[in-house]
Amino acid sequence: MNRLPSKEERRLRSLVQAHDRWRGREVFNLLPSENAISLVARRYLSSDLAGRYTLPVVTEFDGETIDNSYTGTRYTDQIEQLANAAATRVFRARFATTRPLSGHIAALSVLAPLLPRGSRILAIPSAEGGYDGYAPGFLPALLGYIVRPMPADRPGFRVDAESAIETIRRERPSAVVLGQSFLLFPYPLRAIANAAHEVGALVLYDGSHVLGLIAGGEFQDPLREGADVLFGSTHKSFPGPQGGLIVTDRDDLFHELDPALVWRTFDNAHWNRIAGLAQTLLELERWGPEYAKTVIASARALGKSLSDLEVPLVAADDGFTRSHQLHLDRARLRKDWSLGAGALARRLESQRLLIDLAGRIGTAEATRLGLRTDDMARLADLFVRAGRNEERVGPEVLRWRRTFHDLRFR
Ligand SMILES: Cc1ncc(COP(=O)(O)O)c(C=O)c1O
Repeated sequence: MNRLPSKEERRLRSLVQAHDRWRGREVFNLLPSENAISLVARRYLSSDLAGRYTLPVVTEFDGETIDNSYTGTRYTDQIEQLANAAATRVFRARFATTRPLSGHIAALSVLAPLLPRGSRILAIPSAEGGYDGYAPGFLPALLGYIVRPMPADRPGFRVDAESAIETIRRERPSAVVLGQSFLLFPYPLRAIANAAHEVGALVLYDGSHVLGLIAGGEFQDPLREGADVLFGSTHKSFPGPQGGLIVTDRDDLFHELDPALVWRTFDNAHWNRIAGLAQTLLELERWGPEYAKTVIASARALGKSLSDLEVPLVAADDGFTRSHQLHLDRARLRKDWSLGAGALARRLESQRLLIDLAGRIGTAEATRLGLRTDDMARLADLFVRAGRNEERVGPEVLRWRRTFHDLRFR
């Protein structure tokens, strides 16, 4: 028996090591969908919990009532309770679950138990910055819903209070799902919630992109402004492991959706992830407000610096953003730079700066890494030089990147 790692095992190890080196030490990540996880949370991700089950559900088994299908879970169950309690504190909510395996699964876990097949929902179309998962062929097809468009206007794909109210009164949906992958400005939530509640609709706030900002008391406060449920991904502006969570103040809704989680959208909730998420929640309990304020201030500062260097961005008149995102104005980019957003992203990538190919730029991971608001002018300068292909800035980016060793806000 050959005890040495196989060729494929060695190749796998070197790919993972190369990835970790490149993404962890050699590029600035400006993708708004990602973030950096603290070393402690990472340590929990690779702990023994990674391979364990627990199913703390009371069931009848051959006439015997059991409170868990597994033994060996005495610590796992306490870790979950700690995570959920931290989530209720951070989001100032009465109820929380950290079980959903991702933002998409959180959406599915909220929608399926609360809305029967045949329900009509309002959601922002993906062509207007909405999340593709709410497009007719995806979650609505799976769950048997009729989805109608909630309009969001350019530039910046903003939902306008008046047209939202008019749409809600006309469509009389069972739920309004507020959630966008392109999200710069808060929703006029009080007005939307009042109109929705008037027609008996639930307001389901998918905060996947802005969850870390909401945790820090910025952007908006969905549960206080009228949302019935807040849910989303825990790894975009929220700097935790990939996963999802759901919070609400409404016990009637929580008691509908919480027992429906297990066996409808997953079985085992991945306890290493929940330990890592608990750690991130505790980090945000200490640092959340400062982190969230810095992310937004840096996004606005980066917007100003890029715009001063003639990078076309949307919403310049409104300070570019109130979130962690900036959006390239793709039409002006094509006209002024003769370049698509995707081609620009590939150029930047070759010089160690990552943005997405749809033209979104984000400051969440850079902030966690330690870049401050006054660093944004230098970042914009590197961005523009790399984007213009004027000179090779990759080595300069690398030298600067290597000066950031430890994450902040942890
Ligand atoms: C608004 C919104 N909701 C849900 C999701 C899905 O999240 P996840 O990738 O965590 O499943 C995304 C992903 O980009 C999103 O932008």
